[in-house]
Amino acid sequence: MDVTELIELMKKRWTARNFESRKVSDNDLEKILEAGRWAPSGGNKQPWELVVIRDEETKEKIARLYSNAMGLDHPSERYTSPPVLIAVCIDTRTIDSYPDMMPANFIAYASVGSMVQNMGLAAALMGIVVSWGTQPMGIHDELRELLSLPGYIYIPDILQVGYPAQDRHLTGRREVDEFAHHDKMDETKLRDLSP
Ligand SMILES: Cc1cc2nc3c(=O)[nH]c(=O)nc-3n(C[C@H](O)[C@H](O)[C@H](O)COP(=O)(O)O)c2cc1C
Repeated sequence: MDVTELIELMKKRWTARNFESRKVSDNDLEKILEAGRWAPSGGNKQPWELVVIRDEETKEKIARLYSNAMGLDHPSERYTSPPVLIAVCIDTRTIDSYPDMMPANFIAYASVGSMVQNMGLAAALMGIVVSWGTQPMGIHDELRELLSLPGYIYIPDILQVGYPAQDRHLTGRREVDEFAHHDKMDETKLRDLSP
């Protein structure tokens, strides 16, 4: 694969919110997890633990927790429709081992981000979507109990993995020149983010 093909693959990865019931094979799932394994991480601490969820009842419970927290009146299909969910967890004991001067939570979350990106790209090559699902703070304790997570395990995201049942939702990106600064920051390029 050359760099142009790699960038094309990056453009192929996307976030779906509805999924077919079609199963993801064990073989494909293994490849996705193997891709995640090779992600870089701060100090190579590999702060991640993944809970791969296929059990329908558990998915339903996650959907209910999420929907209640978000004020939805039905269990969110984004957690019931995909054949696989992956709870991305951070072992916060790895964070404690980072030197004090570093923004340790950022390092851990950036590491998880690298892992999810690796998995998303591998999946995209196979026509499978891996979508992020950030979890509301208010349901952490319930998620911990549901998934038998010890108290020092933090659960920022539950990924949805499957074949999309919707047309691609096209998202744009800023041009490189809009965010790349040379030698020093050009403040005139910064966005007006006031509401
Ligand atoms: C750290 C992170 C958290 C995200 N959390 C959510 C989420 O909670 N819900 C959601 O619908 N999408 C979530 N997304 C997906 C983004 O909305 C999506 O990547 C972005 O809109 C670009 O679209 P694309 O992935 O289709 O290219 C998240 C993405 C990232 C990187």
